Amino acid sequence: MISIAIMGLGTVGTGVVKLVEENAASIQRKLGEPLQVKSILMRRIKESPYQSKMTLKFADILEDPEIRVVVETIGGVEAAYDYTRQLLAAGKHVVTANKQLVAEKGRELLQIAKEAGVNYLFEASVGGGIPVLHALTQTLVANRIDEVYGILNGTSNFILTNMTRNGAMFEDVLRDAQAKGYAEADPTADVQGIDAGRKTCILANLAFGVEVTPEKVPMEGIAELSLKDVGIAEAAGYGVKLVGRTLRMPGGGRTAYVAPHLVSRELPLSNVEDVFNAVVVRGNATEEVMFYGRGAGERPTASACVSDVVEALQNPKYRPEIGWQQDDGAFVDPAQLSSRFYFRIAGSAADAAAAFGQVEVLSESEETAFLTESVSGEQADQLSQPLKVLARMRVLA
Ligand code: HSE
Repeated sequence: MISIAIMGLGTVGTGVVKLVEENAASIQRKLGEPLQVKSILMRRIKESPYQSKMTLKFADILEDPEIRVVVETIGGVEAAYDYTRQLLAAGKHVVTANKQLVAEKGRELLQIAKEAGVNYLFEASVGGGIPVLHALTQTLVANRIDEVYGILNGTSNFILTNMTRNGAMFEDVLRDAQAKGYAEADPTADVQGIDAGRKTCILANLAFGVEVTPEKVPMEGIAELSLKDVGIAEAAGYGVKLVGRTLRMPGGGRTAYVAPHLVSRELPLSNVEDVFNAVVVRGNATEEVMFYGRGAGERPTASACVSDVVEALQNPKYRPEIGWQQDDGAFVDPAQLSSRFYFRIAGSAADAAAAFGQVEVLSESEETAFLTESVSGEQADQLSQPLKVLARMRVLA
């Protein structure tokens, strides 16, 4: 019998306990031995079918020699960071869905894992049930990865879909996303692009092998988005999606950012709806490969955690391909990046053309919505200075 522990029994932790029970036979076949959740670290003991496994003492897990893998689903940094450091240093593998911790402290935690010769695995931290991190560290390693972008926050995509397709109100859909276990404990991180930003950092770290720290990454969410722009974009053949993006820059270095984009209906990303995520990885041999699946929720996220548990047990040695180096100072401001831009202004098409030269007008009344030619973010800001800008988004086409 192989024993594991879970820290935290929220949406993901509960999913892990249930999945280990539900798929016990197939997991046993893969491991050659049965797997059990022996202990669950709680802040308070609750009435639950798993009550007999609950403990309030971290030492019960840290000092139990039978526990080989610990699943951290506490979330946030403080306690999760402290416990993870101690567990790794004590020679236990740690598996997590905690994107904030991986984005902010992952390099240090992986260093501790390396010194102790164990695994720190975090497939569940990006894209819920989609195995995209394994693609970056294993199945696409023959490539030089040049870009990774996608829809990385299930809650925002769920809200956008329900507001635009079903005319639902923001607050109602957000409540629904919380009830379904999609949203963060503090959903501000979802709707302000911070959660997608953390995931973008993790993708960048693994894709390029150099740390992209969250404080450098501009993060804009859907909170300020107007349905008026969604309507104009749709009529012009674009979906509006919250996109996290990281890429190599032509002069060297790399950039990353999160923002709502107009995504051309020609791109499959524009059809990713509801809680689904999709991540596109552009390798120099494969070109674009897209990964699609449920990006949040109990069972998809638990699937990634339990798969990592099995992997840590199957391959118990630390794996160097999962680490990344310290920030080398080569992060480039995404304002240097060129693309077409969407603007809605309080003004006429003539005002738009006077500022930008060639523009594609999408709608004109008292306000004008238009697309620019390809310009850098910096140029877009400079050229739009004389205009009364009501909305501005990049275009992915
Ligand atoms: N709150 C996150 C989301 C959960 O909505 O995508 C999965 O990381």
